[in-house]
Amino acid sequence: MARKTIIAGNWKMNLLPAEGEELVLALKEHLAIKDNLEVVVFPPTGLVPLALDWITDSIIQLGAQNCWHQLTGAYTGENSPLLLKTLGCSYCLVGHSERREIFSETDELVGRKAQALISVGITPLVCVGESLEEREADKHIEKIQNQVKAVYNQVDKEVWTRLCFAYEPIWAIGTGKTASPEQADEIHRVIRNTVKNLAGDILANATSILYGGSAKPSNASELLQKVDVDGLLVGGASLKAQDFSQIISAF
Ligand code: PGA
Repeated sequence: MARKTIIAGNWKMNLLPAEGEELVLALKEHLAIKDNLEVVVFPPTGLVPLALDWITDSIIQLGAQNCWHQLTGAYTGENSPLLLKTLGCSYCLVGHSERREIFSETDELVGRKAQALISVGITPLVCVGESLEEREADKHIEKIQNQVKAVYNQVDKEVWTRLCFAYEPIWAIGTGKTASPEQADEIHRVIRNTVKNLAGDILANATSILYGGSAKPSNASELLQKVDVDGLLVGGASLKAQDFSQIISAF
């Protein structure tokens, strides 16, 4: 099973409808179909139904930034994975550090969300990563291993093939500081080895692991050249059509 390269744009809580449409239409002009490449945009949930229209006739796929771990019920303000599926999402982020930190999401909750997403046919893109303090205290590897294991604890074994990961060092998100390609590759190997120990070689080799944290046109190709870097999760630079297109072209 060859693993896919995924270039993903996380818009976070940015862009209004007219801006989102302009961005997607500009992206569509630059995009060419390449074997084994997936391009995904993650707009704010309120824009998802509109974005489904904007991506028509392109290779762009749609993702959501968050969901709840139940499919229906009394969860005011939350979004059901089933609704996201019905609205056309093929991916959903889970465990982004902003959700873990600002909204106190635990490893266990992240795993449950991943399971709920898979149950409706959405691929979870699970974000893991360490703070600067954890890296400086040499606790980063253990933290990431634990974050990865927690997901496999919650997800049914038969559907482990559906998981994707993004390594997003917290100190690199929105700071302009990027992990070096070597640092990224090292942690991607840690993630892949953790998957290997839990789920075996074949599955580990088929799992796409993206890097995120100040990815931009100037560092995209160096990062993507690393054997264990299977794509990029791009925040700030995904809001500019030219930058995001250049990042896609780096593949
Ligand atoms: P950034 O964000 O590219 O702006 O650093 C990445 C992310 O948070 O997914």
